[in-house]
Amino acid sequence: MRSKIVAGNWKMNKNLADTETLLAELSAKLPDTNAEVMVSPTYVNLVGATRALENSTIEVIAQNMHFAESGAFTGEISADMLLGIGVNTAIIGHSERRAYFGETDAILAKKVATALSKNIRTMFCFGEELEDRQSGNHFKVVESQLKNALFSLNASAWSSIVLAYEPVWAIGTGETASPEQAQEMHAFIRKTIAEQYNTDVADGVSILYGGSVKPGNAAEIFSKPDVDGGLIGGASLVADDFVAIIKAI
Ligand code: 13P
Repeated sequence: MRSKIVAGNWKMNKNLADTETLLAELSAKLPDTNAEVMVSPTYVNLVGATRALENSTIEVIAQNMHFAESGAFTGEISADMLLGIGVNTAIIGHSERRAYFGETDAILAKKVATALSKNIRTMFCFGEELEDRQSGNHFKVVESQLKNALFSLNASAWSSIVLAYEPVWAIGTGETASPEQAQEMHAFIRKTIAEQYNTDVADGVSILYGGSVKPGNAAEIFSKPDVDGGLIGGASLVADDFVAIIKAI
């Protein structure tokens, strides 16, 4: 059975003191849940976050990692560096990395391959832009993002993959995909994976929705059969909102 997951992507927000404060509040308010709960502070606060969550079920995950093992890549962070501080999951392919840092499908394929070779669970993000949806190309775009970055993996690698469908037009805009639009795309993603691999792989992968998930819309989005949770930006920075979203699953 695939896991339910609620993950907070904190992006470039919160210094160490604010990180510790938010995590203390989250830990105190964390509801009983069968879902995996994850938070993703910025790199410099990962160590502090893992310490703050030592006795917690909340997992600390990274927002990114480099594809090289080590070397002359100023400003970058390797898989081994993450493993060395007890971080075993990384977000790869966020649309902000694609848009502002030039991360192409080819680069992302290398990152995914490195992460998996190091036993780092990969939360792979992808999703269409507004003009893709308006022109009716959203399924085609999503299919090609999946193919280019993930479809050369062996079927067995998929047990370490989580997908996060994040339509770019819904990120930080307050506009969400409707629950029906999310379900339609998630079902399409699962069908595409089943065609490339098999139904075991397709049914086993958790597919999260991301893009303006809030306490007020989470339950309806999460109620859809192919939506296995959420990757939450803005609302994950406020303990009560994130807790409400966890409760919604
Ligand atoms: P918002 O929830 O702020 O729209 O961000 C979504 C996102 O990008 C999560 O990775």
